[in-house]
Amino acid sequence: MVGIESLAFYTPGYYLDLTTLAEERGVDPGKYLIGIGQEKMGLLPPDEDVVTMGAHAAHYALKDVDLSTIDTLMFATESGVDQSKAAAIYVHQLLGLPSTTKAFEIKQACCGSTAALQMALALVHQKPNKRVLIVASDVARYGFGSSGEPTQGAGAIAMVISSTPKILEFDPESGSYTEDVMDFWRPNYMDEALVDGKYSIKVYLRALSESWKQYHEESGRTYNDFARLCFHLPFTRMADKAHTHLARVSGNREVAPNALAARHGASLAYNRVTGNSYTASLYVGLTSLLETSDEDLTGSRVGMFSYGSGCMATFFSGVVMEGYRSAMDARRHHEMLQTRRELTYRQYEHFYRFRLPIDGSDCNTPRYTAGWFRLAGVKDHKRIYEKVVKDEPSGTLTHTEMVV
Ligand code: HMG
Repeated sequence: MVGIESLAFYTPGYYLDLTTLAEERGVDPGKYLIGIGQEKMGLLPPDEDVVTMGAHAAHYALKDVDLSTIDTLMFATESGVDQSKAAAIYVHQLLGLPSTTKAFEIKQACCGSTAALQMALALVHQKPNKRVLIVASDVARYGFGSSGEPTQGAGAIAMVISSTPKILEFDPESGSYTEDVMDFWRPNYMDEALVDGKYSIKVYLRALSESWKQYHEESGRTYNDFARLCFHLPFTRMADKAHTHLARVSGNREVAPNALAARHGASLAYNRVTGNSYTASLYVGLTSLLETSDEDLTGSRVGMFSYGSGCMATFFSGVVMEGYRSAMDARRHHEMLQTRRELTYRQYEHFYRFRLPIDGSDCNTPRYTAGWFRLAGVKDHKRIYEKVVKDEPSGTLTHTEMVV
């Protein structure tokens, strides 16, 4: 038995309401709220990055875990902070992991986290007394004023994979699909992704049917074997499109919209207010499903679809463990979302335009973070991270005053 022993997620303490963005862009808010299915987008302040977000999530995922059993830390991201050094090494240091723990970075757009997961499953099968920590952390950024803008967001997940899962046990079967396409990419000289939006949706759906086909052939399972489904969520309406498509290609043409929503609805709640978090997105959806579903999901089989532009995709599944609710951190996650601060449009633009120096000069970043770790600045071309000192017991996140 191999699966998820602990699972935690993080999104920064700031967001922009999409009705504010709609007003500024002269767009009917219904397009964002209903057509795209997003209400708010999480925004990264100047003193946070994928390292600080990932370290914050991992801090909680590891709270009941013996660190000496962590064999490997795999960090999945497409918002890397260095061309050579893995973000995993910074997290390794911030969390005080043993020097015997391997730490490295994995990339294939949003699917990098699932590639890490598949490696982790194999590793734990080989060494059942060891654990793997997977961190997936990303900032979704598109051109200012572009059609991708309302699908921005930020967040991280951390999960411990072990032979003593408390949350979900994975099935051994999976189906994958790889094709060289230019639907979404980010050249090294750009901070924002380039995207062929409508085409990316088509490729996502093609990758879903192809990976489903292989999964179905390998496992013999059919659509009706899944009590719940989680999809990669670049925006939550994508789940409706994906689910309708999956029902059709798996031979279930007559599934009513409310029956589709009953199977995936609870997985959308968190992403609707955080926005896309690329590698973390599917697993934020899984967290949302397990924490916001009214029903007890014990014993339910969950189908999961991971899509990474470019493209690689994987369909896989798992069964929810008895007692999973007590292994989740629903109250803290809920509080984290409730205590975020809403930004004005001008403040959003200020965050968006902030850049660390690119000429090698030193800088100290302004203090904004709501998390446990912050990027204090850059000195001698080196990123300087620090732990944030505050009163933990209340779990209350405090924000320093905005200077904008
Ligand atoms: P757009 O072209 O501005 O929007 O961009 P649209 O015209 O297609 O409208 C969107 C929906 O809103 C449509 O519904 C409209 O009818 C509806 P649909 O036809 O899709 O059912 N609409 C309204 N609804 C209610 N009231 C209204 C109203 N007006 C219109 N008044 C797009 C949309 C998603 C393409 C754009 O935001 C974009 O390019 N986003 C980024 C790319 C993306 O998210 N692609 C998804 C698949 S690729 C992927 O998932 C990978 C990714 O995560 C990256 C990675 O792997 O690393 C992105």
